[in-house]
Amino acid sequence: MPDIFSMQTAPASSALQATAYAKLNLALHVTGRRDDGYHLLDTLVAFAGYGDEITISPAQEDSFTLSGRFGQQLPVNGDNLVLKARDALREHFPQQSTAIAIHLEKNLPVASGIGGGSSDAATLLALLIRLWNIKPEQTLLKQICLQLGADVPMCLHGQLYGGALIAKGIGEDVQSLSGLPVLPLVLVNDGTAISTPQIFKHMHKRDNPALPELARFDSHAELCNFLKTTRNDLLPPAAQLAPQLPEILQILRDCGAHYAQMSGSGATCFGIYDTLPAAQQAAEVLQQQNPHWFVCATTTLPNKA
Ligand code: C5P
Repeated sequence: MPDIFSMQTAPASSALQATAYAKLNLALHVTGRRDDGYHLLDTLVAFAGYGDEITISPAQEDSFTLSGRFGQQLPVNGDNLVLKARDALREHFPQQSTAIAIHLEKNLPVASGIGGGSSDAATLLALLIRLWNIKPEQTLLKQICLQLGADVPMCLHGQLYGGALIAKGIGEDVQSLSGLPVLPLVLVNDGTAISTPQIFKHMHKRDNPALPELARFDSHAELCNFLKTTRNDLLPPAAQLAPQLPEILQILRDCGAHYAQMSGSGATCFGIYDTLPAAQQAAEVLQQQNPHWFVCATTTLPNKA
């Protein structure tokens, strides 16, 4: 779990804003299943330099508002992971947790394998810790993250440090990975919302090999060659429910991607390009041909440190 305090500047007394970055599983191997039904993962994760935008400010009473392309698809009540994150932290710090106005600009497609809700929750935790000037113990912070979702610890790591990581266990065992090249990317989502539990339920084989040993990657071509030896074990069950997925991956390759894969349980797919202009050009073509798709050209986040 990241040390949140080493990253902080002075406590804030006015509005704070941060991007909740999209999480990308560059490779996702499912290696087993725990007795409680959760799956064991070995996943290489990076974050896109694009995401939802969260703003919080001190207020007379709590409020939560939503905007953005995908804002209407989310609940504004206690089912929203952002409010669950606020309430989970408040439960442990009732004295310091004053009323707060939260605004979420939802730019990422919902239920789409890029950890939007998890990243929103992690980002809100990081912002509230600063605004409320509280210092949760690392174990408590980890417990709160995991209670919100298996992807929340890795999203908090991305929020604080950027860069890439390896996550194991059900997602709670997060190790920083330095030296990964920054990758120009195109993200695409054709509008299919996919339920993560459904995908895990549809898996035929759960005891798959772990990630191959990681080498040093001096260029993104070397990283792409490595990725070609990896898998997303959730792609076969996702393709059963959304049969267009392999075709979307092929479209990304046809538009010049060196490597294309689905992230998480889908349906968002990503392609890795030579340069950002090449990614932007591919994104333009894809958007023209598929006006209703979510299409985004970006790069992975570099290490923040
Ligand atoms: O933890 P989170 O709420 O994001 O997970 C959603 C669902 O995905 C879980 O209820 C579980 O069915 C499945 N899951 C899993 N193994 C993981 C992560 C999620 O089986 N490592």
